[in-house]
Amino acid sequence: MGIHGSFGILVLFITVINAQQLFPQKKLFDQTYIIDPEAEMTVPEIIRRWGYPVETYNVVTTDGYVLVLHRIPFGKGGYNPGSKPVVFLQHGLLCTSSVWIMNLPHQSLGFLLADAGYDVWLGNMRGNTYSRRHANPRIRAQEYWKFSWSEMARYDLPAMIDGVLNITGESQLYYIGHSQGTLTMFSMLSENEKMNKKIRAYFAIAPIGTIANVKGLFRYLGENMYNELEMITLLFGDQEYLPNTFISRWLTELICGLASTNPLCQNFLFLVSGPDSHQFNKTRIPVYLAHNPAGTSIKNILHFCQMVRNQMHLDYDYGEKGNQQRYNSSIPPAFNITKIKVPMYLYYSDSDWLATPADVQGYLLKRLNKKYIKEVKHLHDYNHNDFLWGLRAPDDIYKPIIKSIRLDWVKWKAHLLHTTTVPTTTVTFMPSFNQLNDTNEDKDLLGSIIKPLSKTTKTISPSIFAATTTISTKDKNLLKPISEEK
Ligand SMILES: *[C@@H]1O[C@H](CO)[C@@H](O)[C@H](O)[C@H]1NC(C)=O
Ligand SMILES: *[C@@H]1O[C@H](CO)[C@@H](O)[C@H](O)[C@H]1NC(C)=O
Ligand SMILES: *[C@@H]1O[C@H](CO)[C@@H](O)[C@H](O)[C@H]1NC(C)=O
Ligand SMILES: *[C@@H]1O[C@H](CO)[C@@H](O)[C@H](O)[C@H]1NC(C)=O
Ligand SMILES: *[C@@H]1O[C@H](CO)[C@@H](O)[C@H](O)[C@H]1NC(C)=O
Repeated sequence: MGIHGSFGILVLFITVINAQQLFPQKKLFDQTYIIDPEAEMTVPEIIRRWGYPVETYNVVTTDGYVLVLHRIPFGKGGYNPGSKPVVFLQHGLLCTSSVWIMNLPHQSLGFLLADAGYDVWLGNMRGNTYSRRHANPRIRAQEYWKFSWSEMARYDLPAMIDGVLNITGESQLYYIGHSQGTLTMFSMLSENEKMNKKIRAYFAIAPIGTIANVKGLFRYLGENMYNELEMITLLFGDQEYLPNTFISRWLTELICGLASTNPLCQNFLFLVSGPDSHQFNKTRIPVYLAHNPAGTSIKNILHFCQMVRNQMHLDYDYGEKGNQQRYNSSIPPAFNITKIKVPMYLYYSDSDWLATPADVQGYLLKRLNKKYIKEVKHLHDYNHNDFLWGLRAPDDIYKPIIKSIRLDWVKWKAHLLHTTTVPTTTVTFMPSFNQLNDTNEDKDLLGSIIKPLSKTTKTISPSIFAATTTISTKDKNLLKPISEEK
């Protein structure tokens, strides 16, 4: 896969040039970049830099893609041998697991969850900086890059989620997704009933099902560039789009530097995300840019462009003939999100160009089964990236999520206690409950659940709470924690 086709760069070139017509000129940096050391580090290095433990695992999808999982097993409170919520975080389009740890520890969702006492897992979709190996080392680039988010939904998410459940020994996990990390989740849950049972709750941040009302670069790509992109694929086969190489970084800087100092021009991500942020820590932007964009396939970008054009939530469109062969129908099948049976929490905003209120309200909220919608939060003044890096996000989104998980987890395990008869003596609750600075409201709720328990005679075996750390596949070496991934 060493070939980051020069055509990917050509496309970048074309898109950046064209996109400049869209945006007003504005200056972001006053000459000086203050580069934080995290710009030069890998995800495990960043996690370690802030004093957190980190583990790296590989999982192999059933179609052979080797994906890398990063884990923060515990936080500043120290190792907790008891059972704890397992939380899985899935990044969005063109990003990596880095998106969850890009700010300071008290501002980043990955670290906040670890400090709350949870077992935190960060996924990496096929084709990004970390997950670009294949079980077949001789696979040709054109074969490798033949995927869109449909494959991520069908293969990547089940493989990663099953891997995490296997390693932790839990039966269910909490899922938090951003952007494409929600599109893939909605799609997977629509057609995979078994996976529904493995998700305890689903937190959808900047959620995407349709992008009929998308603004910015994607509208432009969908309306004006689709044919060019398709042509490149037809002529040269499937290729990578926007790899995170020095060339693409240099090119972005060069083009934007010459033409303008438009902040939106600094990076593809900002062309996608929405209007200028009012809550960014601007000195950290070089860190974000150093890690993203991180590569995906042109086919994936094409799939997003198709969504702009057909305004629906459909599988990949191969054209009438191709669809007939593949789907036995002239149009691709639609994902039916009404089938999803997982408790869901949605967070969206009016300043988001990709997950627009029109699409969230007009598609997701309309079609999702109301019975499973636990919370919908319509936030103001968040662009697509503010959900990850905005300075208001910890209070508006992350802390409420942490609290929802904690309350649900206690209810869940308490229910287990009531319904399981195991002959042992001790009950272990997450020690971190004591460390948390609960509000009175929290305390009452926890108290009402825990107190009745102490009156019951039922207790639970610690072994139910013990985590195991084995995972098996055909190739054991692939699944061992690996030391470091560049
Ligand atoms: C993990 O998966 C293997 C089979 O793939 C199975 O034998 C093992 O019991 C699983 N472990 C857990 C804790 O589920
Ligand atoms: C912004 O980032 C810089 C360094 O990256 C950090 O020193 C500073 O504390 C951050 N500011 C805020 C408000 O978080
Ligand atoms: C294809 O679709 C037609 C009608 O829509 C149906 O009669 C036929 O059984 C389908 N074939 C397969 C292989 O599913
Ligand atoms: C989608 O799923 C729901 C719930 O299972 C079902 O009632 C509905 O008919 C389905 N819609 C379509 C178009 O298949
Ligand atoms: C706990 O919360 C209270 C009220 O919100 C605050 O005054 C106090 O400083 C907090 N304590 C810690 C240790 O964070």
